[in-house]
Amino acid sequence: MKTAADKINLSFDLRVLQRTVLHFKTIDSTNRFLLDAEDFLNGTVVLADDQTAGRGRFNRVWQSLPETALLFSILLNNLSGRKMPAVYTFLAAVGVYQGLWKSLPAGINLSLKWPNDVLLNGKKVCGILVQGKITAGRYEKLVVGIGLNVNQQRQFFVNDLEHATSLAAESGFEWDRIGILNKVLTAIDHLLIVLQESGERPIIRMWQDACGSIGREIAINDGKEIYRGVFDSLSEDGGLRLRTKSGQKLFYAGDVTVLKE
Ligand code: BTN
Repeated sequence: MKTAADKINLSFDLRVLQRTVLHFKTIDSTNRFLLDAEDFLNGTVVLADDQTAGRGRFNRVWQSLPETALLFSILLNNLSGRKMPAVYTFLAAVGVYQGLWKSLPAGINLSLKWPNDVLLNGKKVCGILVQGKITAGRYEKLVVGIGLNVNQQRQFFVNDLEHATSLAAESGFEWDRIGILNKVLTAIDHLLIVLQESGERPIIRMWQDACGSIGREIAINDGKEIYRGVFDSLSEDGGLRLRTKSGQKLFYAGDVTVLKE
């Protein structure tokens, strides 16, 4: 399901991303749209004010209120080399982090949570979902979907006050959504160049520097079992290295909880 799109021109020069954003008032899912679409240029950005079937991790639904969040997806179909798809999740998280941190009032803590969340004061403000289309064993395209909670009031998160939040709920004032979009996309554009020129390592390093839980006691639920240990670092390919009493374990998916001392 989709309605007609209009166009928003971003105010910065971008090198990889397209400056003209395709904007829907409502659509089922910006990720679904770009996964199904053909003939769009590398770096196309699709933004929606509302999604009727927003996709989250583990087939969860990603919900918002119309015109309160930034719901957007980026198409990458010029995938040179053998970059691991996970790096794009970390790249997007670092982009959101860099796009936000200078604009946040003092006293608000911004951090990253493995594998795909951005936290404000320890609560999720943004989730990232990278989906791909594989043809003949190769990624033909990747779609990087970003849901950033901007102007939802605290009451919106009433069933999940401990875990979810928005920029407005933490700062106490309304934010200009397109202003933030510009900042986040500028940061992502720059990081895509870093990835092209220097590979995954600097992206992984930036992600680790912004992560709030490295070196801390965590529990990780891989869907079958819960493991406890210290979050040591990220592996080269984006896995979480956990130091447990019985040795080091590596995870590629799971839900992390930081254990309070
Ligand atoms: C998560 O579960 O944390 C990831 C949520 C990702 C949501 C965004 S909103 C824009 C894009 N379109 C979708 O359908 N999902 C992503």
